[in-house]
Amino acid sequence: MMALETSPSGAQPLHDKGLSLLDRSPFMLACRRLPVPYTPIWLMRQAGRYMPEYRELREKIGFLELCKNPELACQVTVSAAERLGVDAAILFADILLVLEPLGFELAFSRGEGPVIANPLRTVDRVSTLRHVDCGTDLGYVLQTVRMARMALPAGLPLIGFSGAPFTLASYMIEGGASRHFTRTKAFMLQEPEAWDGLMVHLSKTVTEYLCAQITNGAQAVQIFDSWVGCLSPGDYRTFVLPHMTRVIAGLPRGVPVIHFGVGTASLLELMAQAGSDVMGLDFHVELDEGWRRVGDVAVQGNLDPAFLFTDRRSLTARIKRILDQAEGRVGHIFNLGHGVLPTTSVDSVLALVEIVHDLSRR
Ligand code: CP3
Repeated sequence: MMALETSPSGAQPLHDKGLSLLDRSPFMLACRRLPVPYTPIWLMRQAGRYMPEYRELREKIGFLELCKNPELACQVTVSAAERLGVDAAILFADILLVLEPLGFELAFSRGEGPVIANPLRTVDRVSTLRHVDCGTDLGYVLQTVRMARMALPAGLPLIGFSGAPFTLASYMIEGGASRHFTRTKAFMLQEPEAWDGLMVHLSKTVTEYLCAQITNGAQAVQIFDSWVGCLSPGDYRTFVLPHMTRVIAGLPRGVPVIHFGVGTASLLELMAQAGSDVMGLDFHVELDEGWRRVGDVAVQGNLDPAFLFTDRRSLTARIKRILDQAEGRVGHIFNLGHGVLPTTSVDSVLALVEIVHDLSRR
């Protein structure tokens, strides 16, 4: 087993005694590029609107309220993982929760997605961003982590997560979803010093937040740099890579870090330089080619979520193609190339999990 060290920021994993059930789980083995009995699978957005029980819950409670209710958030985390028979659970929360303690007013409106009422539009605002004290400001997330860890089967890993500094900055600056990221890019290019200050502040916040999730019971963490694919390689290298490198270096060794973004085909080599254990591949790249380009790390991915709308024969063929590209090498975690789409049928997700397990059994 890899040594579990204390990180510079002081996080101490809970599960540091011997080769535990968790360490022997297919998901943890694959993250560490060790042999597995079958290819582990979990799905981004495995808990969400495509599930009738989730929609039912959401009729009674708003999305933010749900995230802030550890008992219910724990229930959503655990029930989704158990219902699907996946090899890891992912914390039920959102990458944007951290914006509130930073000083932003966040709302999720029906149909519109996230909206920030007071976006960051001036250089001066950067120095007024609050320091986030994760233990108090995001205590409800940490409570969900603790409760989910206790409620999950002993051998089922819990994945914590955060947005990456760039993707969080894009929401702060744009004020919500964006197509062209014009304000974010203008800020980056015109105000490089303020951009650096913003990214340093966000990197510290993200590092502390992930360390806190690990200390409270997460076995692995995923960093979502969902929208970083809008940048060119040169801009990624200048404006993002140093910060991602610092975030990952600040996390405890031995706790796998998954680094994921969408539309990142031209950035994979650079993203891999940030130093994660696992690179998430989206569906715009072939798995074998993506793996070659990220080098000696584990990979996660990369079925197009739209293929969950095809019949079982087509779905099986596509799964087989991805497994063939992985060639049974150590270090493949099956996932979608982006999250489960809201109108997906639960049955086809169940079929996906079953087919991946069956076809990959060694
Ligand atoms: O099951 C899981 O994956 C765990 C929970 C999770 C959510 N969001 C719950 C959620 C995770 C890991 C996220 C990450 C997230 N949130 C990302 C990165 C992943 C990605 O898609 O690239 C981003 C960009 C967000 C921001 C966000 N949250 C948006 C843009 C939206 C609205 C649009 C949408 O897809 O629904 C959300 C809302 C959200 N986050 C929902 C859920 C289940 C739907 C809320 C609802 O209506 O119930």
